[in-house]
Amino acid sequence: MSTSPNQEFTEKVLKAYSDIDNPRLKSVISILIKHLHACVKEMRVTDQEWEFAWDFMKRMAEKTSPLGNEFLFFADVMGLSQLIEILNHGEQEQPVGVALLGPFFRADAPFRERGASIASDDAPGARVRISGRVFEFESNAPIEGAILDIWQAAANGLYENQDEQQPDYHLRGRFRTDKNGTFELIALMPTTYRIPDDGPVGEFLKIAKRPPIRPAHIHVIVSAPGYETLVTQIFVKGDPDIEDDVVFTASQNMVGDFKPEGDAFRLTYDFPLKRGISTMPKAPIPA
Ligand code: BEZ
Ligand code: FE
Repeated sequence: MSTSPNQEFTEKVLKAYSDIDNPRLKSVISILIKHLHACVKEMRVTDQEWEFAWDFMKRMAEKTSPLGNEFLFFADVMGLSQLIEILNHGEQEQPVGVALLGPFFRADAPFRERGASIASDDAPGARVRISGRVFEFESNAPIEGAILDIWQAAANGLYENQDEQQPDYHLRGRFRTDKNGTFELIALMPTTYRIPDDGPVGEFLKIAKRPPIRPAHIHVIVSAPGYETLVTQIFVKGDPDIEDDVVFTASQNMVGDFKPEGDAFRLTYDFPLKRGISTMPKAPIPA
């Protein structure tokens, strides 16, 4: 039976990294060492398990390309991406919830006219006309010139970058609010889809008996100078899949009431922004 490594070993490793100049990096590394060492001791990781772990990371690296980052998928399905979003941007009283960005955000989507559709005329699926208002959370004042960056999967469950049949930047677009803070656009009625599960993360989900399902949603980033950028998603009120989002994002503070209107749908949805610094998230795939 092997002996338990004592605390002195961890202290020695901590000391070896105590000369990092950047105080934030120094603190992060020290916390990482403490927690990783504690994990390994609590798990009593065997040689075979350690070999499996580094081989799993190697396979995640092999699966990663400019079009998909397996490490990001792993963080998403472990709840880490959503946790970081909530830590940095979530607040109790916030009426519209914050969501992870997801791996399929592309920067530089085309600006489209008010009322335009992000779906090509021949794209299968029902349409939804979405309108609403962007306003300052603290004062309720309308925000003119706010930008809604919106993207969604096609009815076959694939984003444009995953599907050669779709035109470039299909189901993506940017819209500006008018002087009353309002916007209007047409999208596809969102449908449930499967996230890619043909890599190590997919294997892991199978072992965990977790279906790789994302409830139907539309992604939206709302930004305006002087306001904290809101990264969110709109889910469909009453969708039972909301409870089983594979990436732990869907929640009742991000549901829209999609009302049938003829053979299409109608949604009114408002976005409150808090005063703050306007930043845009880094796109995981190239423009
Ligand atoms: C998405 O909503 O696009 C997404 C989020 C996390 C993992 C995979 C897909
Ligand atoms: Fe998505």
